[in-house]
Amino acid sequence: MIITVTLNPAVDKTVEINDLHINRVNRVASARVDAGGKGINVSKVILNLEGKSKAIGFLGGKAGTFIKGYLDEMGIANEFVFVKGETRTNLKIVDPMQHTNTDINEIGPDITLEDSKKIDNIISESVNEKTVIVFSGSVPPNVDLATYQKWIQRAKEKGAKAILDADGELLQLGIEAGPYLIKPNIHELERLLARKINSMEDTVECAKDLMGKYGIEIVVVSMGEKGALFLNKQVTIFAEGIKVDVKSTVGAGDSMVAALAYAIDKGSSFEDAVTLAVAAGTANVMTCGTEPSSLEVIRELEKKVQWKYL
Ligand SMILES: Nc1ncnc2c1ncn2[C@@H]1O[C@H](COP(=O)(O)OP(=O)(O)OP(=O)(O)O)[C@@H](O)[C@H]1O
Ligand SMILES: [Mg+2]
Repeated sequence: MIITVTLNPAVDKTVEINDLHINRVNRVASARVDAGGKGINVSKVILNLEGKSKAIGFLGGKAGTFIKGYLDEMGIANEFVFVKGETRTNLKIVDPMQHTNTDINEIGPDITLEDSKKIDNIISESVNEKTVIVFSGSVPPNVDLATYQKWIQRAKEKGAKAILDADGELLQLGIEAGPYLIKPNIHELERLLARKINSMEDTVECAKDLMGKYGIEIVVVSMGEKGALFLNKQVTIFAEGIKVDVKSTVGAGDSMVAALAYAIDKGSSFEDAVTLAVAAGTANVMTCGTEPSSLEVIRELEKKVQWKYL
């Protein structure tokens, strides 16, 4: 069973405005509304891969009810704690004329100690040795940054596999608990180590150091169009980026994480996991914004993935 954790979900509202200007009335050419937040996006991609996951986290207000309805309708199992206050609505303004993307993101509701205890219980009850649990994205403003660390620790104690996809202090503290897999992009890895990474060898070195120091089983370093590096205890694999028509790169990493969770849950070989992860990440950039990519496209891309052992 795969569980995705989204502590700060959002309603993603994407509007298309031709020739956007501030201090002016702008007309919306088209609009779409999706349930979003990194963990929820992971659940959506898992569904596209014909896998199953349960989404958990915090929701609030009308936006929260919308997200719950959206997941129910899609057939994604979910168990959210409803909190006081309103789940975020994040506005993305796409301007095809000026080729710009403008994001206006809300912060999200405060979480009480009681709410935190409720999610604590949901996690404790849902996790067992067959679970792959994905912690991704930011946390609400007043939530302890060591939260992922605590839950990774607990997941490990129960024999579950924890995947961590976070940035900054959440990542820093989270890795100290020794998650099963981390997937920083190269910039997140540089921030984690507080230095520039200059070459492939350097990246491999950094990833190996992290594995050794914290007992991480798998490190995946994604590098956007350049591809990604995958390491486990036995092998190091570099997969090149596939040249495609790029519509939006937002969420490529989430798709990659979804594919990795799916492959691990299924017991796929490392090499098959690499192939699926690159195909899913690439498929994501071929669609606009939060639109899902189809399994057919992912299967076609799998044939084009090129990887080598380093
Ligand atoms: N422009 C691109 N062209 C081709 N493939 C891409 C492109 N951007 C991303 N990918 C694929 O998706 C994978 C993950 O992308 P990336 O490194 O950008 O993740 P990320 O920064 O974590 O993204 P996010 O957090 O927004 O989901 C890459 O390793 C690559 O395989
Ligand atoms: Mg990412």
